[in-house]
Amino acid sequence: MLNFNFCNPTRMIFGKNTISSLGEQISKEGLKKVILLYGKGSIFKNGVYDEAISSLKENNIEYVELSGIKPNPVLSKVREAIGLMRENEVEAIVAIGGGSTIDTAKAASAGFYYEGDVWDLFEGKAVPKKALPIFTVLTISATGSEMNSGGVITNEDEDKKWGFGSPLLYPKVSIVDPSVQFSLPDNQTVNGAIDTLSHVFELYFDGTKNTDMMDELSEGIIRTMMKHVEILLKHRENYESRAEFAWCSTLALNGYNGTGRKGDWASHNIEHSLSAFYDIAHGAGLAIIFPAWMKYVQQCDVKKFERFAEKIFNITEGTSEEKGAKAIERLKDFYKSLGAPTTLKEIGVNKEDLPKLADNAAMRAPIGSLKKLYREDILSIYEIAYE
Ligand code: NZQ
Ligand code: ZN
Repeated sequence: MLNFNFCNPTRMIFGKNTISSLGEQISKEGLKKVILLYGKGSIFKNGVYDEAISSLKENNIEYVELSGIKPNPVLSKVREAIGLMRENEVEAIVAIGGGSTIDTAKAASAGFYYEGDVWDLFEGKAVPKKALPIFTVLTISATGSEMNSGGVITNEDEDKKWGFGSPLLYPKVSIVDPSVQFSLPDNQTVNGAIDTLSHVFELYFDGTKNTDMMDELSEGIIRTMMKHVEILLKHRENYESRAEFAWCSTLALNGYNGTGRKGDWASHNIEHSLSAFYDIAHGAGLAIIFPAWMKYVQQCDVKKFERFAEKIFNITEGTSEEKGAKAIERLKDFYKSLGAPTTLKEIGVNKEDLPKLADNAAMRAPIGSLKKLYREDILSIYEIAYE
């Protein structure tokens, strides 16, 4: 186990009928004027918008709104939010939605106080010194952004989908009412499950030794998520499964599951290049990339893949290597059974584009920790993922 320094300051308010506490939470901090950020309209259909607005009104909190945040959120929208926030002198941000809206809020929160262009924070040219407080109402469990300090934004002029982070960006309060996720289309539920599983894999398969307790936790999250996503595809409105799913997603990437290890994150980098060019959902991209990465790196930690095979898929026959290889196939089959894509070809990627994707993902190479990956390695992974 590696040394660590762990502190997660986000207050998590979790469960049925919790959105009505939004206004009070903001008011308690002495804040009176906020910007409300949200996506393309799901919050009007499922009643979340009305609940949040009533709570703000009851607590005399003024608000301005910015809607239209798209999945794979873009830099131009972050700049628009910062402009509106400065013009209206808001004191906090309320993000209602999923990772895309929350990440836009994080970038805008740091960008609000930064004099240069907010993209500098992604390029590492500056670090946030101050940020506006963020409150979130989560409507799709997937990214863990509701309880972590990172965000991912696409610079659409430069085809860069990059992340940044700062301890200043943990949301102050996040409200998670799993029942608002009844309205999710099945493919979004599946994307959320695969993103969650991938966060666990990034931490689990990172090559750090002696992480027994955290491995048990990771395996618990993996098994729980695999069980409940299947239930939800049959019973979309099963509250208990929505709740298990939601808490798994948060725990996968709120820092706790990363304690004592460093994380790999190569597959996330490789996927981000895919969604920068093809605008596909992050979870769908990971369904394609992660099994391909696993095949490419299995030899670097044969024992860990064997453990994964035994603990997750109860595979007991064969050599260590055979068990690991079988588990990777089983994972891919599981993704297929959920209706997720598992090859680049299926989502319309041209084979001639693979070198361009590899160039993009290698901009910050080497990436990864279990195996350090350079451009040629990344290209090989895209090739494995192709068909
Ligand atoms: O825009 P609306 O109409 O709200 O529709 C959204 C959107 O189309 C819909 N949706 C959300 N809640 C709903 C709903 N539809 C019906 N009922 C509901 N209750 O779902 C769609 C996807 O939303 P989005 O916010 O894009 O999903 P997600 O939470 O998966 O976020 C993905 C983004 O987060 C980044 C990803 O790369 C991607 O850009 N990530 C952020 C991370 C972080 N900050 O820690 C880590 C992740 O690894 C990831 O990279
Ligand atoms: Zn992810």
